[in-house]
Amino acid sequence: MRAVTMSEFGASPVLCHDVPEPLAGPGQVIVRVQASSVNWVDADIAHGMFPQTAPHEPPITLGHDFAGTVAAVGAGVRTVEVGDEVFGTISVAGPVREGAWAELVATGECTLTRKPAAVDTATAGVAALAGTVAVMSVDALNLAPGETVLVIGATGGVGGVAVQLARAAGAIVLAPGLPEDEEYLRGLGVSEVLPRGDAAEVIAAVRKPHPGGVDALLDAVTAYEITPFADVVRDGGRIASPTDAAGYGPGCTNITHGPCTEILDRVARHLADGTFTIALQGSYDLGDAAKALQALTAHHTRGKIAVRVA
Ligand SMILES: NC(=O)c1ccc[n+]([C@@H]2O[C@H](COP(=O)([O-])OP(=O)(O)OC[C@H]3O[C@@H](n4cnc5c(N)ncnc54)[C@H](OP(=O)(O)O)[C@@H]3O)[C@@H](O)[C@H]2O)c1
Repeated sequence: MRAVTMSEFGASPVLCHDVPEPLAGPGQVIVRVQASSVNWVDADIAHGMFPQTAPHEPPITLGHDFAGTVAAVGAGVRTVEVGDEVFGTISVAGPVREGAWAELVATGECTLTRKPAAVDTATAGVAALAGTVAVMSVDALNLAPGETVLVIGATGGVGGVAVQLARAAGAIVLAPGLPEDEEYLRGLGVSEVLPRGDAAEVIAAVRKPHPGGVDALLDAVTAYEITPFADVVRDGGRIASPTDAAGYGPGCTNITHGPCTEILDRVARHLADGTFTIALQGSYDLGDAAKALQALTAHHTRGKIAVRVA
């Protein structure tokens, strides 16, 4: 089968035409992939950034998100059958050998759910990882109508979905963005677009209209340190982060994606009923996956970058 593989970390991923097809082990589903996306975890693995925590051994087929059709099921699989249209994301927790930038992917039953007919395949193909992490983040913030939430990274995949979920919960969303992002961010539901500066500048901009700070913060940008935006959260407020930046203590939640059909089902429902949409910033053929990776890491991101597999 065709798949995008890399033979050593740091090498450019290439399209191979003779990769062995995966077999469905117990509890596994083989999905004939039509659509995928690019996530930072793909870029991190491509650059060999996970060797200590989850040793990866090249050759690796990259790609996490997928949407497609069930081609085979392993022993014990009960929730889907051959021919079902599904979407999901393979687990980010362990080493990846056989990812989703391939014609066929083997994945655990709990990593996928049925794709609603109302959701197009390209959108489903970019939705799973960003969508589940956004749902988990907004759940953790437990927003009440009228509360304020500051979202750092609102132009990206996770942040863009989180903004729309926060709005749906009745919250008032503040987010820093570049001048050219203003219309896009307002379209997502951001009420107050702030200049994208360093943390001190953003905090000062928030405190002008909100001297007591905000009720909640989602930081989907800060990495390797506790969020420098924490000072703008009022006493007793909540902080969530998918980048391990929330810190520790009451109200602080660091989000880690785990395969979970229940949360994917919520993503499916939200996409189908229009609670949120996901903007496709660009779309690349499977053979151009290296360019898709480059687009995520080297250019300003607005929404999600899609990979067309079939
Ligand atoms: N824990 C998990 O399981 C999990 C799952 C998914 C994602 N994540 C992590 O969550 C983070 C976000 O993922 P994503 O897919 O949403 O990435 P993304 O699509 O690249 O989104 C990040 C967005 O934030 C913007 N940004 C960067 N610096 C900013 C700043 N100082 N102020 C405001 N906006 C800023 C980026 O713009 P530019 O493009 O201009 O930089 C980009 O639009 C990544 O670090 C990813 O690894 C974790």
